[in-house]
Amino acid sequence: MSEFRTVAKAGDIPEGQGRCFALDGTMVGVFLDQGRYFAINDFCPHMGASLSEGYVENGAVMCPWHAWRFSLCDGTWLDNSKSSIRTPCYEVRVEGDQIQVRMPAPIPAPAKPDNGSTPDSPANTKAGTSADASMGSEPVGDEHGTAEPDDAR
Ligand code: FES
Repeated sequence: MSEFRTVAKAGDIPEGQGRCFALDGTMVGVFLDQGRYFAINDFCPHMGASLSEGYVENGAVMCPWHAWRFSLCDGTWLDNSKSSIRTPCYEVRVEGDQIQVRMPAPIPAPAKPDNGSTPDSPANTKAGTSADASMGSEPVGDEHGTAEPDDAR
């Protein structure tokens, strides 16, 4: 779980407005609406406008470019209740006079094989590897890759 990080001081974001902050390579829009702070992804899912420059009212922000409205609570697109379009939301809190946002923990990269090869490397596709043995197949040749015809035995 990631930690809360300070983005601004209380008072830096006027009531009914938003401000944009960069956190972990993501632009986060932090808003103050009716005395409560909200944090959502600042990138409008329509065409990428900065939502923190939008108009804030009644728990929603209206995109400054084409007026799509997004919920500040859950990021849903309020103009089409059947749409799955939404913008990500983040936890926000006030500690003392610090406005803090917590970004989601990064998704860990898949583990690499410890032999330095990748699943598709020749070492793992060669006949007779442990991967082949585990699937019940027989090696096709000797250690030099040559096979003897059955009638030669
Ligand atoms: S870019 Fe936001 S509504 Fe078009």
